[in-house]
Amino acid sequence: MTRILAIETSCDETAAAVIADGRHILSNVVASQIDLHRRYGGVFPEVASRQHVLSINPVVEQALVEARLGWADLDAVAVTEGPGLAGSLLVGVNAAKGIAFMRGLPLVAVNHLEGHVYSNWLEPVVRGGDGASTSPSPSVVHFQFPVLVLIVSGGHTELVLMEDHGRYRRLGGTLDDAAGEAFDKAARLLGLPYPGGPMVQRAAQGGDPARFSLPRALTTQAEHRYNFSFSGLKTAVLRLVREQQAVLQDVAWPEGYVEGVHKETRRQEEKERRGVEDADDGRRKVQVIRDIAASLQAAVADVLVSKTLLAAADCGARQVCICGGVAANGELRRQLAERMTLPYSIPPIWLCTDNAAMIGAAAHYRFMAGLRAGWNLDVRARLPLASW
Ligand code: KG4
Ligand code: ZN
Repeated sequence: MTRILAIETSCDETAAAVIADGRHILSNVVASQIDLHRRYGGVFPEVASRQHVLSINPVVEQALVEARLGWADLDAVAVTEGPGLAGSLLVGVNAAKGIAFMRGLPLVAVNHLEGHVYSNWLEPVVRGGDGASTSPSPSVVHFQFPVLVLIVSGGHTELVLMEDHGRYRRLGGTLDDAAGEAFDKAARLLGLPYPGGPMVQRAAQGGDPARFSLPRALTTQAEHRYNFSFSGLKTAVLRLVREQQAVLQDVAWPEGYVEGVHKETRRQEEKERRGVEDADDGRRKVQVIRDIAASLQAAVADVLVSKTLLAAADCGARQVCICGGVAANGELRRQLAERMTLPYSIPPIWLCTDNAAMIGAAAHYRFMAGLRAGWNLDVRARLPLASW
């Protein structure tokens, strides 16, 4: 059995986890910095690094306590070396080196994108498609290679054919914005708070996905068959916001929105119940935003699922894995369930966004293959997913 302590600090989550055999989550601690960055409308790199410095020790300690393990029970320490924010990565790498050095443990460096891929090897993974269960399954997931992987996060949108553990063939990726970036930028245009993806999803509830027809870059031309482009969507949303300016100008997203209650809607519903006349106007404004958000979500999900189906068929993939923060999106999950013909797996929502459990899962396979990082391990802000 391997027990690996994993550390992840590539962006704005300080995370540590203990993973057994690359699959069982003994603990998974994530300290989110969302509240800190909201006032800046996005991740403020220096603020992120400083917060990692404050959180890293308590988070690591808690991961061990929750796993009910001591240092002597560990087989290795794993850490994300990149890609990500250099200042944030440094905190995790230094912490991992310090622990490995003092405790005499091997150090394993993990690519963040590979971590997302391996989030699909953790229990419990959600499976779907031909003949497979669509509910969280505690049973062992046996992957049959080649596996077609779609990575969709804030910085990446990649289609990769995984031929075996640690063997990746990149098929394509985004030519401009990542899928998560498209959500984040559109959210800003709609006046929705950070983080954009979950806020767009929430705004889309009760929205009409067919009201606005947004562009879908679905070219099947050989050169761009497996590539994505989302920048046109951002421009289209900007155009819609301008067109709807007269309706939208007074919409101020109320504070309670972030906590999940849309006060504006509630107030309008209240007025409506009481028969107040101007209820209609406010509702119309909110509805426009809901409809744009729903149309955006539908367009992004459509493109992601269509290209994944295309690539999987072309490459003779036996299974499909979806991962990364955008895999948390409800509309994407709905379209996958509806349209996937191959067996596929997608992590539960709490394992889609950044966490250290996935780093521990990926580290297990590297560790078993004898891969070790040296004391000269440095961070790599730009690091493509590569075979080992
Ligand atoms: O994987 P992740 O946590 O961090 C990176 O490695 O980038 O992904 C973050 C991205 C953000 O762009 C965020 O807006 C998006 O994932 N995201 C979502 C949802 N939850 C997170 N996008 C759409 N719908 C969601 N529910
Ligand atoms: Zn990530």
